[in-house]
Amino acid sequence: MNYQDQVVMITGASGGLGQEAAKQFAQAGARLALSDINESLLSEVAAQLRDSGAEVFHQVCDVTDESAVQQFVAGTVEAFGRIDVAVNNAGLDPEATPLIDMSLEAFERMMSINVRGVFLGMKHQIPVMLKQQGGRILNISSIAGVTGHAYGSVYAGTKHAVIGMTKSAAVEYGRQNIRVNAVCPGVTETNMFDRAMDALPDRERAIKGVGASTCLKRHGQPEEVVRGMLFACDPENTYMTGHALMMDGGFSAL
Ligand SMILES: NC(=O)c1ccc[n+]([C@@H]2O[C@H](COP(=O)([O-])OP(=O)(O)OC[C@H]3O[C@@H](n4cnc5c(N)ncnc54)[C@H](O)[C@@H]3O)[C@@H](O)[C@H]2O)c1
Repeated sequence: MNYQDQVVMITGASGGLGQEAAKQFAQAGARLALSDINESLLSEVAAQLRDSGAEVFHQVCDVTDESAVQQFVAGTVEAFGRIDVAVNNAGLDPEATPLIDMSLEAFERMMSINVRGVFLGMKHQIPVMLKQQGGRILNISSIAGVTGHAYGSVYAGTKHAVIGMTKSAAVEYGRQNIRVNAVCPGVTETNMFDRAMDALPDRERAIKGVGASTCLKRHGQPEEVVRGMLFACDPENTYMTGHALMMDGGFSAL
């Protein structure tokens, strides 16, 4: 896949999938605009990518804060003049809590990062893409965006919402040459994965159980999921929009 000189913006770029996405987009020739709420890790990630030859603009941005999102979009346009691809990837972990025990505060926090964050991203990325007469947006949903998850009801609700907003934005802006897709990772080995597995009584058993729930009988690696992200946004993949691409080792096929 060739992203030579394409401007790719990624939120949650300090995390497992965000970092790997930044790396693979850079290897394919992209210029990167990276953001995260974790300032020190973001600076480290940006420095490593610059050392390996990538052109990188980075800015701290809390995706729930509209003015921060506006500033990140504006900063990217100032740095590179356009946004070809926007990856709305920042997200909060599944809660591992029965629905009836979930506090309203925890519900609102999850909605805020996973739903409001994606909404604010698209709200401010699309006007730039309208002006330049095209672009691609990729929102990161989950297997929990298409199936129910016991003890993860609110997380699943947010990831279903991401797919709903993705499809609707694709319908609204297809005419203006903006493609909007989602990727739905299965359980993938990032920090989020480690936190989820560590919270269970028997980590090794839990990892085996996750693997058993896929066709491939193993959980995913970030580099495998990110290949689907690059495919979805590929400049030559011109007829795919409103799609939720499962990158889940066949979890959803069983
Ligand atoms: N790892 C998995 O198994 C898995 C499965 C399905 C979906 N996902 C989704 O993939 C995306 C990336 O997850 P990951 O596995 O890389 O997790 P991760 O925890 O490694 O990374 C998430 C990143 O988002 C950042 N973030 C959190 N809140 C933020 C905020 N308010 N503003 C800006 N950044 C914020 C964190 O600092 C972190 O760097 C998430 O949307 C997640 O829901 C992950």
